[in-house]
Amino acid sequence: MPKHPSILELFNDKPIGTNVLVKGWVRTFRNDQFITVTDGSTIKTLQIVIKKEEHDEEKLKKIQTGACISAKGLLEKSLGKGQDIELICEELVILGESDPNEFPIQMKRHTMEFLREKAHLRFRTNTFGSVFRIRHHLAFAVHKFFNDRGFFNLHSPIITGSDAEGAGEMFKVTTLDIQNPPRTENGEVDLSQDFFGKPTNLTVSGQLEAELAALALGKVYTFGPTFRAENSNTSRHLAEFWMIEPEVAFNDIFDNMDLAEEFLQFCIKYALENCREDLEFLQEREANEDKLKPVDDRQSMPLIQRLEFVTNNKFERITYSEAIDILLNSNHYKKKKFKFNVEWGIDLQSEHERYLVEKHFQKPVIITGYPAAIKAFYMRMNEDGKTVAAMDILVPGIGEIIGGSQREERLENLIAKCEQFNIPQDHLWWYLETRKFGTCEHAGFGLGFERLIMYVTGMQNIRDVIPFPRTPQNAEF
Ligand code: 4AD
Ligand code: MG
Repeated sequence: MPKHPSILELFNDKPIGTNVLVKGWVRTFRNDQFITVTDGSTIKTLQIVIKKEEHDEEKLKKIQTGACISAKGLLEKSLGKGQDIELICEELVILGESDPNEFPIQMKRHTMEFLREKAHLRFRTNTFGSVFRIRHHLAFAVHKFFNDRGFFNLHSPIITGSDAEGAGEMFKVTTLDIQNPPRTENGEVDLSQDFFGKPTNLTVSGQLEAELAALALGKVYTFGPTFRAENSNTSRHLAEFWMIEPEVAFNDIFDNMDLAEEFLQFCIKYALENCREDLEFLQEREANEDKLKPVDDRQSMPLIQRLEFVTNNKFERITYSEAIDILLNSNHYKKKKFKFNVEWGIDLQSEHERYLVEKHFQKPVIITGYPAAIKAFYMRMNEDGKTVAAMDILVPGIGEIIGGSQREERLENLIAKCEQFNIPQDHLWWYLETRKFGTCEHAGFGLGFERLIMYVTGMQNIRDVIPFPRTPQNAEF
């Protein structure tokens, strides 16, 4: 046992009868006798039993929700209900006081909106403790999955000189004085004098670089921050989010689907096995929140059962054309309940995606074979000359969680695509060269890490699964 064990270690090892030192933050203080503390290592709290007569009035007053304390004493079996150990305190120190009239996190239900404004302190709540412990375990699961399968982790650049992927609006990176930038003779901002001597942006994806590496190292994956400047204020979009992008030489679209399905199931299973108590807590939380909602908006299955269902059942696989047929034949469509038009060629709207996964299939769905015109230039053209080897994975409650494709490896096709999409070839010369020198079939996808965390935790807003969300008009903390 370390000199100062965490509460998790105490519950795991239960060193009954030994002297221990515990440090943490006060949750509650009852009857001038029982303090519950948390130290973030686990959702469990430890009860510390003090003798009132051993402490002066002043000190007792300082034992308030949010205060930081250290307690030394004997660890004993607890007689109280709902806990198996407690600390009989012999020495209590107030490390950091917390004024109860000012500390915003009270032992009552706060709205998520309120807690977002207190993002510096929301870690102290049970909900956010669970979410961020799970976030850690999922990140670890991602690396484990790929490492166990012989993938190499690739650190793709965050500042990029290419704006060709077209995955989203980009943030500019510059060191020029925006009030007074250098100008060329004809009055334009002279970007040749900028830090990199050319315009640069924050990356929207590491895919193109991952492709270069895959065509040498075979199997790679990136796991890094990506940035999109769309002004989309939804519960599923962030301006800064983390993405995992595997890329595999010699994989076709079917291998790609298999990999993505296995990967998602692995991550969810990992959370079920390693985050049980946090998931149980979040499940109960969700059930309580559901009681406040209209019946139609409630979850059809409890959280853990939903996750088990996903790990135990194959994902549905359909083509885009089949998806359109299902939508056109639905009662929903016939009763004119879709806001957006349905016909072959449309970009599926989130109401369409939700209908397919939540109403029709009620499980994760992989859609392939999208019209070429609505997907990125690098996706491989199918035999029909109309559709590309794209795949989106949609899950209930979230919608799109993964987007990917088999890549166009044929130089002539790729050049033609660049022309169609107005992408200057000299911006992408390095990408095109991989098709010139030893090109081969390859495929990959991108998983939005926060969307995965939403799915696993049942949290309804993406702002509540990243420590400090970046969204339009908001970059506090
Ligand atoms: O579908 P997207 O745009 O695909 C790509 O960026 C490809 N380069 C991936 C690849 O093939 N390597 O994004 C991939 C995933 C989406 O399915 C979604 O889960 C997530 O990234 N995502 C976002 N998550 C949060 N906020 C946003 N603004 C997001 N945009 C995409
Ligand atoms: Mg997408």
